[in-house]
Amino acid sequence: MTLTIVGSQLGDEGKGALVDRWGGDADVVVRYQGGDNAGHTVVEGGVEYKLSLVPSGAVRGTTGILGNGCVVNPKTLFTEIDDLRERGLDPDVRVARRAHVIMPYHRVLDGIEEEVKADDDAGDEVGTTGRGIGPTYEDKAGRRGIRIADLLAPDVLREKLEYAVPQKRALVEDVYGLEIEGGDDRAEAFDVDALHEEFAAIGERLADEGMTVNCSDYLHRRREAGDEILFEGAQGTHIDIDHGNYPFVTSSNPTAGAASVGSGLGVTAVGDGEVVGIVKAYLSRVGEGPLPTELDGDADEEALADDIREKGGEFGTVTGRPRRIGWLDLPMLRHAARVSGFTGVAVNHVDVLAGLDELKVCTGYELDGEEIDTVPTTTERWERCEPVFAELDTWAEFDSAAVAEAGYDALPEAAREYLEFVADEIDTPIYAVGVGPDREETVELTNPFDE
Ligand code: IMP
Repeated sequence: MTLTIVGSQLGDEGKGALVDRWGGDADVVVRYQGGDNAGHTVVEGGVEYKLSLVPSGAVRGTTGILGNGCVVNPKTLFTEIDDLRERGLDPDVRVARRAHVIMPYHRVLDGIEEEVKADDDAGDEVGTTGRGIGPTYEDKAGRRGIRIADLLAPDVLREKLEYAVPQKRALVEDVYGLEIEGGDDRAEAFDVDALHEEFAAIGERLADEGMTVNCSDYLHRRREAGDEILFEGAQGTHIDIDHGNYPFVTSSNPTAGAASVGSGLGVTAVGDGEVVGIVKAYLSRVGEGPLPTELDGDADEEALADDIREKGGEFGTVTGRPRRIGWLDLPMLRHAARVSGFTGVAVNHVDVLAGLDELKVCTGYELDGEEIDTVPTTTERWERCEPVFAELDTWAEFDSAAVAEAGYDALPEAAREYLEFVADEIDTPIYAVGVGPDREETVELTNPFDE
């Protein structure tokens, strides 16, 4: 069967912990979109692994695939693999030959575009991770991208660089009016010969290590052989380029439909399996864009946000930026459950909410005198939404390890009421509850691979 793990909110819901946990029952873990903009922290026996590109299952020794829907920075990939090897692991990672490559000029252009947007005072900068994600997907759609397969064929690679690089140069110099200085990193990022040398060598290493695959064919065969496949979504529903809060989105589709498109395994295979939405028990957002339930109204709310941020470790894995904090927003979850067709949810960080003086959940919004129960389609309308809150009982601090061992009924009663309220509102059963960062600190009600 297949299991697809999807972020229900704005990324950083703690997907890595569940992928890692259930990945133990999978034979293959596949990333189907995004690149090294993702940040997954996996804690195994007190040891922390921070991964951006390598699928989280690698910590468990499961085969990890970067599907054709991903954009791959090979330098990040090799750094992560080498680091895991140095720490005594032997990750088995394959890359789709159809996946697109993040080139150095994509990262430069990502930075320039954000700077230009920041300078025009229109408030339109996205707050990207600066990893070159958007510019790489632009080139993919513009049919001038460089794919992993091209790195294996030096002549093809040169031809493609000779077509793309002058366009990028012109963009920097003629459109943005900036200079490409000689002798520094930026100059190398736009130098066909330097790029060719570096990326042909990367292709050699990919070939030597037998890392590239025809993803569709590979997964089809593994499935035919009876292997279990886990799709690891990165980012979250509300930063999906089609279903999220455009333009404050990433340039790929984190939602479940992309598991099929981004891997080449048919929709029937993905739809035949389980789709589990990962929910953080409150909200966090890194980057710009609306957040109706944000705790930023007054000094008390800001102090509460600070507490939650500290306790939940809410600082970007990739960028280190402090994350904005808000109450749980059910309209966002309803939208996520519908778009991806959740069969279950896992609610994380329930321990972070312990010991609060008040606890709110947004059940709907008021917009232009009307009450609505899902997220409006435009940023402008979403920004004007006033949250309608339900107040729920709070719970005291509890011993996460003991609760994880004893099971769901050992959770404080108010925490269970909170979880059941959420499950009812989005009409989706709870499969797991995260009560701490360690893999063991998860209360499992249902293992989707047993369904
Ligand atoms: P990009 O993906 O770097 O282009 O950034 C676009 C938007 O998505 C920005 O608001 C980022 O902060 C956000 N974003 C990208 N990746 C992640 C992630 O893994 N977690 C949370 N937010 C992300």
